[in-house]
Amino acid sequence: MSKEREPATVAAVDAAALQNEALAAVAAASTPAELTELRTRYLGRKSELKQALRNVRDRESGMTLNAVRERLEEAFALREAELDRTALDRALSSDGVDVTLPGDELRVGQLHPTTQIRRLVEDAFLGLGYEIRDDREVETVEYNFDKLAFPSTHSSRSPRDTFFLSDDVVLRTETSPSQIHHLESREPPVYMVSIGRVYRRDAITATRYPIFHQFEGLAVDEGLTLADLKGTLLHVMRALYGDDRRVRFRTHYFPFTEPSIEPDVSCGICGGAGCRTCKLTGWIEMGGAGMVDPQVFANVGLDPEAWTGFAFGCGLERAAQLRHDIPDIRALWENDLRVLRQF
Ligand code: PHE
Repeated sequence: MSKEREPATVAAVDAAALQNEALAAVAAASTPAELTELRTRYLGRKSELKQALRNVRDRESGMTLNAVRERLEEAFALREAELDRTALDRALSSDGVDVTLPGDELRVGQLHPTTQIRRLVEDAFLGLGYEIRDDREVETVEYNFDKLAFPSTHSSRSPRDTFFLSDDVVLRTETSPSQIHHLESREPPVYMVSIGRVYRRDAITATRYPIFHQFEGLAVDEGLTLADLKGTLLHVMRALYGDDRRVRFRTHYFPFTEPSIEPDVSCGICGGAGCRTCKLTGWIEMGGAGMVDPQVFANVGLDPEAWTGFAFGCGLERAAQLRHDIPDIRALWENDLRVLRQF
């Protein structure tokens, strides 16, 4: 009888209940680790099912239990695949790289508008065969005024107009001292342009700033005339403002040129018809110019009878303002990137 009871133990395993419980647990498993744990519990060597299978005596309960085992193996495999897929989906959507998203913008810098104009001017003069000169910003009174034939009473010799570092040293008020330095260091013929900062004791306004840049040209050769000066300025103005610019001269006075003129360029904004920028005249003042004064030649030891020359000086900020229609010169000194990035 006792032998008869053993199969009863096997039968005691309620196969259907076990299967339902295991299937429910597998369906509820939400991680691979949980699933592994359940597999040990329901299909492991020590699991109820495996123990029952080991003790099976009759064919029928063996078939029932094996069917349960197969059903569970299948459920585990299915759930495992499902969990793998969800994990993959989640990884793809969270750590995924979307190559269609816009990247981080790397802003490329650009040259300051004054520097852009400087380069344009340099290019225009290099094209004419001029040599570019860089010069000192701290000058002596001798080079800033005396050798340029400024009369002793000239107003810019006053500390009201000019920054004096001592009685005979100033921050240069113009690039014209470069003319003297150049003629003292070269034998003519010379064709040079000197570009750099100059300083004047001006109050800051929309059109004036106590520091600014000038380009200064000097040509000394035999037989040069005002026509050469005009052609040269026309070439540079066209390089700066476009091919249809015209240039005109008005008479003026500078200590170191004779005759002296002020060149105007036809207004590029209205094309010469008259607008706010050119104050309704159709013309815009560009700076100063003239034929080199014989006194300057004498001051640098050149024979005024043998040599002729012309010189000119123009402000770079003014050129930048005109080229870009910038209403206030201060914008060129404040370094506000919102402004500068527009050029
Ligand atoms: N140096 C003069 C100025 O700053 C300009 C100029 C240069 C005039 C060369 C004549 C010749 O106003």
